[in-house]
Amino acid sequence: MIRVLFVCLGNICRSPMAEAVFRHKVEKAGLGDKIFVDSAGTSNWEEGKGAHQGTVAKLQEHGLSSEGLISRPLTVEDFILYDYLLGMDKQNLADMQKLAPTGLEKKCQRLLSYTKEERDIADPWYTHNFDQTYKDIDKGTDALLAFIKEKYGL
Ligand code: 4NP
Repeated sequence: MIRVLFVCLGNICRSPMAEAVFRHKVEKAGLGDKIFVDSAGTSNWEEGKGAHQGTVAKLQEHGLSSEGLISRPLTVEDFILYDYLLGMDKQNLADMQKLAPTGLEKKCQRLLSYTKEERDIADPWYTHNFDQTYKDIDKGTDALLAFIKEKYGL
């Protein structure tokens, strides 16, 4: 099993959106039994809460469910369990690398590092632009799935 964990600050806007979008793509590609997907936050501020209404609405617009998207904090065990820990922005990446056990920092990347534009995915908690976030996540998850398929010959 290849394990992918999307990470943002609150785990209610960007990373649950990435989780739902990527899981849908994985299932559509018939790889649901090979790739496991989850998401977490670098903070525990929103622990136990469902996805933000803006994320729920954007997912709904694209025919995707928000069921089961419940915020939880990133843990040290996640670095052992997951193969890919994908932050949305530079701050997420710095926070993840601080928590990572020695040697496992290399499992951490920014999601858009798999695309040709290596940059942050803006936080709609502040920008209120869930559409731009969705577009970036769509791009990033397409590139990530292509990378995994190529790397593992799927
Ligand atoms: P996210 O957005 O990291 O994309 O889930 C945020 C959600 C909550 C907060 C900040 C960002 N907050 O300050 O509670």
